[in-house]
Amino acid sequence: MQVLKSAAKHQVSITLNGVRRSGFAEPRTLLTDFLRHELGATGTHVGCEHGVCGACTIQLDGVPVRACLKLAVQVDGRDIKTVEGLASGSQMSALQLAFRKHHALQCGFCTAGILMSLDAFLAATPGASEQQIREMLSGHLCRCTGYTGIVDAAVEAAAAIRSTSSQAVKV
Ligand code: FES
Ligand code: FES
Repeated sequence: MQVLKSAAKHQVSITLNGVRRSGFAEPRTLLTDFLRHELGATGTHVGCEHGVCGACTIQLDGVPVRACLKLAVQVDGRDIKTVEGLASGSQMSALQLAFRKHHALQCGFCTAGILMSLDAFLAATPGASEQQIREMLSGHLCRCTGYTGIVDAAVEAAAAIRSTSSQAVKV
């Protein structure tokens, strides 16, 4: 890890949505600020900065984590997926399509974090029941309180993911 002594900054290199990216961060710089201000990945939102609201959730090596509870220097060399990495080019993921169909966002502030948690959860638990989805979503706060649409979208996305998985098995 290269250190710029004059600015007390450390070089941090990550794979961000499949692309190798580097930037500099002070030891105290939060991962949220590194992503947004140093790398320009502003899809990750900052709400409470206390690990409570879930708005800042990203996937670190495939696992959802609160980016406001990580320091940028802790993730050097790691793989990070943010909301910008959900679509394949212009093709939205099944989850994103379901959110659009069910109007599962209002202001959208909480949406990126919810999508990143659901993306990992449904990949690991495609057979999740509505109750399990509701329990998972209890770790996220939506200030607009539009939870019904979010749950409906997640349930539909789970079905779409199950269907795609079963078709892949048949092939
Ligand atoms: Fe990270 Fe609220 S901003 S949990
Ligand atoms: Fe506004 Fe959730 S859509 S905070």
